[in-house]
Amino acid sequence: MAQEKIIVTSALPYANANSHLGHLSGAYLPGDIYVRYKRLTGADVKYICGSDEHGVPITISADKENVKPKVIIDRYHNAIKETFEKFGMSFDIYSRTSLPIHHETAKEFLKCFYDNGLLKEKKSRQYYDEKANMFLPDRYVEGTCPNCGFEEARSDECENCGALYDPSELKKPKSKITGETPILKETSHLYFPLGKFQERLEKYIDQMNLKYGWKENVLQYCKSWFNNGLKDRAITRDLDWGVPVPVEGYENKVIYVWFEAVLGYISATKALSEKNNDPDLWKRYWQDVNTKYVAFIGKDNVVFHTIIFPAILMAWNDFNETKYLLPQNVPANEFLNFEGKKFSKSRGWGISGIDFLKLFPADPLRYTLAANLPENKDTDFYWKEFQSRNNNELADILGNFINRTFIFAHKHFEGKVPVQARLEEIDNEQLKALEEYPVKIGNLLDRFKIKDAVLEMMNLARAGNKYFNDAQPWITIKNDKDQCGTTINICLQTIFTLAEVFEPVIPFTSKKIFNMLNAEKVRWKYAGEVNLPDGHELNKAEILFSKIEDDIIEQQMNKLGVPEGEEEKKEEIETISYEDFMKVQLKTAEIIEAENIPKSNKLLKLQVQIGNEKRQVVAGIAKSYKPDELVGKRIVIVFNLKPAKLFGVESQGMILAVEDETGNLNVLEVPKNVKTGTSVK
Ligand code: MF3
Ligand code: ZN
Repeated sequence: MAQEKIIVTSALPYANANSHLGHLSGAYLPGDIYVRYKRLTGADVKYICGSDEHGVPITISADKENVKPKVIIDRYHNAIKETFEKFGMSFDIYSRTSLPIHHETAKEFLKCFYDNGLLKEKKSRQYYDEKANMFLPDRYVEGTCPNCGFEEARSDECENCGALYDPSELKKPKSKITGETPILKETSHLYFPLGKFQERLEKYIDQMNLKYGWKENVLQYCKSWFNNGLKDRAITRDLDWGVPVPVEGYENKVIYVWFEAVLGYISATKALSEKNNDPDLWKRYWQDVNTKYVAFIGKDNVVFHTIIFPAILMAWNDFNETKYLLPQNVPANEFLNFEGKKFSKSRGWGISGIDFLKLFPADPLRYTLAANLPENKDTDFYWKEFQSRNNNELADILGNFINRTFIFAHKHFEGKVPVQARLEEIDNEQLKALEEYPVKIGNLLDRFKIKDAVLEMMNLARAGNKYFNDAQPWITIKNDKDQCGTTINICLQTIFTLAEVFEPVIPFTSKKIFNMLNAEKVRWKYAGEVNLPDGHELNKAEILFSKIEDDIIEQQMNKLGVPEGEEEKKEEIETISYEDFMKVQLKTAEIIEAENIPKSNKLLKLQVQIGNEKRQVVAGIAKSYKPDELVGKRIVIVFNLKPAKLFGVESQGMILAVEDETGNLNVLEVPKNVKTGTSVK
């Protein structure tokens, strides 16, 4: 069979923020696992990514800090790149869209379409902020969605219902720069006639799905787009940061970021050609019918990769001899949330990849994320789950199996692979399992069922432990050393298979294991064979996983919801209306009991009396008060706060306290003559 040739991309992250775990699990880890697997099968793969460095979010950040956009993109490009390296992303190149080669590529496409008369020029009325003296980009305008009534809709796109509309249809528009109501002012833009491609796009997706099985969630997104009917899309913007429009009269405009960002995959591959001193490299992937193209993304990017990008490529192919490949599959993921809520930097909810990797090695994170990928629905990252996946699976199942086998091999067989003397039924069964697992896992990975594949990888480690237990080498070593040697031999072969099949998920550990085995990885199809010859010399065992203690996890959980210091200072004071304030019911209460909460050094469980009512409240004041000191105090509580569980303990309200200079918390006290249950006004 001819060598498979694949180009794989992961969505180009905006160089505007650090990647958090949600990003990593959505578009990057799945891509990396797939690529690493494909490389092991012997495929010729190029894995492409880079920073998306244009677009309004970047100019907003730059404005906020009063610096040039270049400062922002350099900072985040480097930070993201570093995160990816530490996380073990195996890109062939991590490029960026501010490079000249990218600008040229994007202009070439736009120029081709313009010269061939594909683009329509339309005058339209766009929001213009008279106070700021500028046209407002989509994201600088907020209003009510004409489709669903969502009040924080963008000017041309609603995050809530996914509708796309003309900015003039937005209700109650407001400028995000000055807060004023913007006016609609006339401007010209070039439009890409997406509607012209609808029929072909539908057919293309149908065919790809029939042949390669697209994911159901992706097909659903496409379907709703087609049902709404594809409309002309403006591909120029009134901005000064981006790729200039190579058309007369458009000197002060830039190409719409999404139009050029998707072309970043191609320009990044061109940058790889330059890097490798192989000018035609990119053509051998993008313009060769024998290559297949797979695009990894998160769900918010689906339309751009299944509709807009393919339409751009179709249009190019209509006008040129050189033909580009269209994506063969777009295995988009849903979102990963964090402890039950959306990631939010400003609210301090979640953790960036870079911060995470300062605390823990990459592999336990990769494994935890991979075992819980949002493949078909949103999933959550939980610190406790991370801890248990690390301790109970990686350390106790995989690590333990490898460790006990190595101890045996070194103690009783001079650190060499013992001979397979005599195969009993249980040995044959284990050897058979070794052959079956890589096939099963490979089939799942080929179909982008990564989560299921990861489960099977760990199942192989479980099978290894079971085999070890059933074969009882600690008994056979005393009465049948040949039998014992056979067992240890087969355990070592199992470890080899594990090192290979786990490589896509935990590459750093896999490398260590191969090192311990004093062996090199083989082609995937040989992974389940007897790869270690009799007498093969092993290296010393290394520690593969360390257990994570409860207090380490607790520390991280305590940080949740605390905005980063930086964020806090910058945050403007948000005013609330009198009505809003009146919704808060504050009442006096007396503390009648107080006790510690096991495993938490921050929280106390309090019973409070509020008039006739008794309630339980959990308060984060354990560092400032001993439980006894609190009993009898008359305090103020937020009476109508929604009940919540903290450390599994129900809390029905919140106590008011102030922090002093030393960081000590002081509960607000009221004079003893005020009855409990009195409203605070
Ligand atoms: N920057 C976009 C995001 O983070 C993704 C761009 S993907 C590309 O959502 F196709 F445009 F490159
Ligand atoms: Zn809406």
